[in-house]
Amino acid sequence: MTWWKSSVVYQIYPRSFSDSNGDGIGDIRGILDRLDHLSELGVDVIWLSPVYRSPQDDNGYDISDYTDVDPLFGTLADLDDLIAALHERGMKLVMDLVVNHTSDEHPWFVESRDQASDKRDWYFWRPARPGFVPGSKGAEPTNWSSLFSGPAWQYDPASGEYYLHLFSRKQPDLNWENPAVRQAVYAMMNWWVDRGVDGFRMDVINLISKTLPLADGDANPLDGLCYDLGLVVNGPRLEEFLAEMNAAVGISAKQLFTVGEMLMVDVEHARRYTSVHADELGMVFTFEHMSLDQQPGVSKFDLRPLHLPDLKANLALWQDGLADDGWNSLYWNNHDQPRIVSRFGDDSDEHRVTSAKTLGTVLHLLRGTPYVYQGEELGMTNAGFTRIEQYADIESLNYYAAATGMGLDEAQVLRGLAVKSRDNARTPVQWDDGVNAGFSTGRPWLPVNANHSAINAAAARADEGSVFHHYRTLIELRHAYEIVREGRFALLLLEHEQVFAYTRTLGEQVLLLVANLSCTAVPLDGLDLPDVTGAAVLLATDANPGAGALRPYESIVYLVG
Ligand code: NOJ
Repeated sequence: MTWWKSSVVYQIYPRSFSDSNGDGIGDIRGILDRLDHLSELGVDVIWLSPVYRSPQDDNGYDISDYTDVDPLFGTLADLDDLIAALHERGMKLVMDLVVNHTSDEHPWFVESRDQASDKRDWYFWRPARPGFVPGSKGAEPTNWSSLFSGPAWQYDPASGEYYLHLFSRKQPDLNWENPAVRQAVYAMMNWWVDRGVDGFRMDVINLISKTLPLADGDANPLDGLCYDLGLVVNGPRLEEFLAEMNAAVGISAKQLFTVGEMLMVDVEHARRYTSVHADELGMVFTFEHMSLDQQPGVSKFDLRPLHLPDLKANLALWQDGLADDGWNSLYWNNHDQPRIVSRFGDDSDEHRVTSAKTLGTVLHLLRGTPYVYQGEELGMTNAGFTRIEQYADIESLNYYAAATGMGLDEAQVLRGLAVKSRDNARTPVQWDDGVNAGFSTGRPWLPVNANHSAINAAAARADEGSVFHHYRTLIELRHAYEIVREGRFALLLLEHEQVFAYTRTLGEQVLLLVANLSCTAVPLDGLDLPDVTGAAVLLATDANPGAGALRPYESIVYLVG
C-alpha cells in the first residue's frame, strides 16, 4: 500500500498558526516552536499553505516568486530547518502548489504585459468583444465572472487587451496550452523535490485546462456573485497535463504525495484522476459534501440547513465509488471552510466538545486519507464576526461589496458571511489562555476568538477528555487497525435524520460506528443495527456507552471479531 494511504495530514495555514517575531503574523519559526504539539497529536504529514514570496492579495495564493520564502514568513533557511525538523520526527512536508495562476507581480506576468514579449502567450490575453470599445461596459472577451466576484477579465489600457483571472485581478491565469509554461512549472516542482519536500497539494488544479476557444457561458442568474465553471473545469487536456507533470517530476516513481484541489469534480472524475493505472494524482479534494448547506446553483453564501441524509448519501457515494480503484481524501475543514463544529455540529458550551469529537469520528473512520486543519483538533469555532470591518478575506470583502451593491439586504449578506466566510477558519490558533491566545506578542492580523480563555491547546492537552485527545486516539486507530485503513464501507440507516451509522468490514472483522448528529437523544432499540453483543468498544464520546439511548451528539465505535 502506498505510504500516504495510512497517513493523517495536518494543514498549517502559516499566517494564523504561530508568530515567533511579534509582527502579528504567523511564521516558519513559529511552526518550529510548535512541533511537539504535532508530534503528540501523531500526524504523519504537514501540508503547508503558501509561504512563497507574494503581495498577499489572497494571503499567499498569489505568488510572485515560486522559489523563495516571503519575508513575512521567514527565509529559505527557515524552511530548510522545518523540512529537516519534520523529517527528524518522522513527518513529511507537502507544499502548496499554486500554478493555475501567478501573482500579477510575478516577473512572468510583468513581462507578458508587453505585447511583443515571448511571455505574452504565457497568460490569456484577449482583445475586447467584437463591436465593443475596449474598456467599456460589456466589452470583456467573455461573460465569465471571477470566483471572487466581478468580471473574470481585467482591462489593461497600455496594450488595449484584457487578461483572464478566475480569482482576483492580481491572480492572472497561466496558459497551460503553452509548453514553456508547463516546463517552467515542472522545473520549479523539481527544485522543491530536490530541496527535500515530500509532495504537493495542488491548488484548483482542474482549472489548468480551459475549453478553447474561450467563449461565453450560460447566462448567470446572479451576475457577478457566482459563476458557471463548466467551461474551465476538468478541461480536455487536464489528464494529459497531470500525467505529463507526474512523469516530469517523478511523482509516481518517487512516491510523492499529491492531492489535487478540484472544483466541480465528481466521483467518476476522481476515480479516473486517482486510479492506480493513471499515474496522475494520489487523491483529490471534492467540494460536493461542502456544498450541501447552500442553495443549489447560487453563491455559497446563500444558506440552507444541512439535511443529514444528503451528507450520508454523498460520503457513501465517494466511499463506494473509490472502493476498488482510486483513493479518497477526507476533510471537514481547511483555510477556505468554516469551522466544522459550528457548521455541522453545535458550538454551544453544552455540545461543543461532544459534537466536535463525533464529527471527527465520523470522518476519520472512513476509508481514505484524513486531513486535520489547524485548530480542528481543539474544537475551535467560527469567528463570530458581525461587522464587515472585522473581515480581511478578499472573497468575503468582494462578495459583500458586490452583493450589497446589487441591493441585497446587508443583514442577510452579513449572516451569510458569519456562517461561511473563510475568515472563520483563519482566526489565530488558540494556544493558551494568555494574551492573544499565545499566538503572538503583537497585534494579530485577524482578531483572536474571545473563547480562547476556555478553548486552547494547553487546556486541551492537559484534559484527557478533550477534543485533542479524541483526535489523537482517532489517528492512533488508523495507524493500528488495518480495518480502519482498508475495511470495506457500508452505510446504514440512510434515511435517518439524526443518526450517522456505518460499518467497515475486513475478513471476519466488523467495525460499527453509530453517531448521533443531533442535539436530542435517540433510543437505540429503535435502530436497525448489527448485533454488537460481545463487541469491544474501540472509542466512545461518553462514559457508559450504549446504555439505552444515544445521547445528544454521542458516538460509539464497536469492533466485532
Ligand atoms: C483555492 C485556495 O484554497 C484558496 O484559498 C485560494 O483563494 C484559491 N484557490 C485561489 O488560489
